[in-house]
Amino acid sequence: MTTISNAQRPVILTGDRPTGPLHLGHYVGSLQTRVALQDSHEQYLLIADSQALTDNAGNVAKVRDNVLEVALDYLAVGIDPGKTTICLQSALPALAELSQLFMNFVTVARLERNPTIKTEIAARGFERDVPAGFLCYPVAQAADITGFRATVVPVGEDQAPLIEQSNEVVRRINRLSGRTVLPEATALLSRCARLPGIDGGAKMSKSGGNAIPLSASPDEISAAVREMYTDPNHLRVSDPGEVEGNVVFTYLDAFAPDQAAVEEMKAHYRRGGLGDMKVKRYLEEILQEVLAPIRDRRAAYASDMGYVMDLLRAGAQCGRERTQETLDQVKRRLGLFEL
Ligand code: TRP
Repeated sequence: MTTISNAQRPVILTGDRPTGPLHLGHYVGSLQTRVALQDSHEQYLLIADSQALTDNAGNVAKVRDNVLEVALDYLAVGIDPGKTTICLQSALPALAELSQLFMNFVTVARLERNPTIKTEIAARGFERDVPAGFLCYPVAQAADITGFRATVVPVGEDQAPLIEQSNEVVRRINRLSGRTVLPEATALLSRCARLPGIDGGAKMSKSGGNAIPLSASPDEISAAVREMYTDPNHLRVSDPGEVEGNVVFTYLDAFAPDQAAVEEMKAHYRRGGLGDMKVKRYLEEILQEVLAPIRDRRAAYASDMGYVMDLLRAGAQCGRERTQETLDQVKRRLGLFEL
């Protein structure tokens, strides 16, 4: 396949909206994968501040103030700036231009049918008052992905329809230009793509108030585990309990290094005789162990914000060059007038 990508390693692009600190849901949904893949892939991480504005236009300060928080979270989980390039979306003008071009290859009806967008519009109660930028953010996200010529996009499962929509744009542009201008991308879903909130809600989210942030203190971790939703009918230790939908066990599945021990605990819990307190203590210990090194690394980077700013400036420079190259190619291959 002759694409304009000349990378040796497959290219990853993924990103996060800087609307709050990242949490454990991001960690199991995507961050762990990114850390694991940064050796074998050419990886770009986008801090998607422009996209965050699509539903935060009235709160630019929130978006701005979380840019560095997200950068710190990346570094804290083990994103290595020597291997992965961190890019600020609003610093890459070629993405906005690509997005504007792509807008002509997507219909409003298709955007309104996008399951992710449909769900999000309903959740926010926008109805017809949806900001145009919000309805069109899948197009901008297609520009993000293709602007970096990415073929692998590690995301949570809720984002899969966006990758599909991006590939539709890619196919239209390739068909129109009679060759492969842009590569299609594959969504890389992780083993545990969706971590429930500590309240048992379908998804951990900052806005849902049911998240454990990666920067949580030991006390905050204890409190979160204490509050965690279990089986409401498991009243006495001797009662048989339900494991399905029991958040404590879901988290153990996601984080416990010893899965055989977890299976044993599940069987014991189902039979009766295993109390919530005991399972929670086991989980708390594991979460404390997972989060302690993340918190320490975050603190180390946070003590040198000048360095973090330098990283973001260098990342933006690198991202600008790469996305501009793509934009130039797309314009040429579509057949726009060249000066
Ligand atoms: N939509 C993603 C989210 O809300 C963030 C994002 C922006 C993204 N651009 C991207 C993800 C490109 C993958 C690829 O989390």
